[in-house]
Amino acid sequence: MNILVTGVSGFLGSHCAYELLSLGHKVIGIDNFSNSNGKQLPVLHSKGDFSFHELDLSNSDDTSKLFKDLDKISCVFHFAGLKAVGESVEIPYNYWSNNLESTFNLVREMLNYDCRSMIFSSSATVYGDSQEQPLIESMPSESLSPYGSTKIAIESFLNDMCQSESLDVVSLRYFNPVGSIKNGDLYEDPFNKPNNIMPRIIRVALGIDETISVFGNDYNTKDGTAERDYIHVMDLIEGHIKAMHFLSANKGFHTFNLGTGDKVSVLKLIDTFESLNNVNIPYKMAPRRDGDVEICYCDPSKALNSMDWECEYTLDDMCLDSWNAVKNLDIKK
Ligand code: UD1
Repeated sequence: MNILVTGVSGFLGSHCAYELLSLGHKVIGIDNFSNSNGKQLPVLHSKGDFSFHELDLSNSDDTSKLFKDLDKISCVFHFAGLKAVGESVEIPYNYWSNNLESTFNLVREMLNYDCRSMIFSSSATVYGDSQEQPLIESMPSESLSPYGSTKIAIESFLNDMCQSESLDVVSLRYFNPVGSIKNGDLYEDPFNKPNNIMPRIIRVALGIDETISVFGNDYNTKDGTAERDYIHVMDLIEGHIKAMHFLSANKGFHTFNLGTGDKVSVLKLIDTFESLNNVNIPYKMAPRRDGDVEICYCDPSKALNSMDWECEYTLDDMCLDSWNAVKNLDIKK
């Protein structure tokens, strides 16, 4: 099949394109390098029938021009979007205009060229600060940040488009993706001012940073640090492949959690990484980070029951594979 992947140069987009190429699909990748640098693209080119277009999807004319030249697309995987929660509070306009306009342009061109299927990258952030855990898809959405608002708004827009029978969409609500492909061909870039915890642990392991700050040790959890549902990137990507197959038999708008259903504290993650990889990760306690929730984990049974998807990889795999892919990187580059 001919598949379009937006945000293809990013952590998740590149892993998804890699997997699609391995399965023999033709992949057209788009990125504007706003939060990536294209280092992963040569691997994708070597993997199969891959073409790349540098494009800002929020530019309406450029997006129209690109679609004119493309062969018919069977499915769009829409990863592209601004995603730093803290930054979204400082520059909400950029988040709203970029994330919404790029989706509007993409959907307009999909309609123009008779492509109905989209897998959308949503987030657990749409559940807000729910006290009820684990999270299930039928719980109400609540925004804690402009970033979260854009995910909720886009889900709502896509749902409306599906109700009018113009599109079929699976919106995947990611919990905390970490890890790397087992062979180490791809990884989450630790150099580009990461906000998420795993690339920050990696920075300490590589010797770029001296310590990692643990944001909050007064949460109402076993060890006082916040708990998350970390999921191996390859399990997450398998969820996308299953979603694409699900969509070919199920019209309309669907949401699925992609998480393991287990909760892991910040200290447990750091400890596991240290002991399995035999590296030292010095940390210091720091105040809670604004906008962080205490506990966030999911009930993944809807994806199991509907798409026959479940996680295969463990927390150990996540820690081993994250490090394996980057441990030999030259940090001076
Ligand atoms: C974050 C976003 C979420 C987004 C997801 C994308 C926030 C508040 N939420 O999730 O909306 O969908 O990334 O991947 O940014 N931590 C530390 N020290 C660090 C970094 C993180 O202690 O240097 C802690 C955090 O407080 C949190 C846990 O590690 O408890 C995970 O943090 P992170 O990887 O940033 O993910 P989320 O905040 O869960």
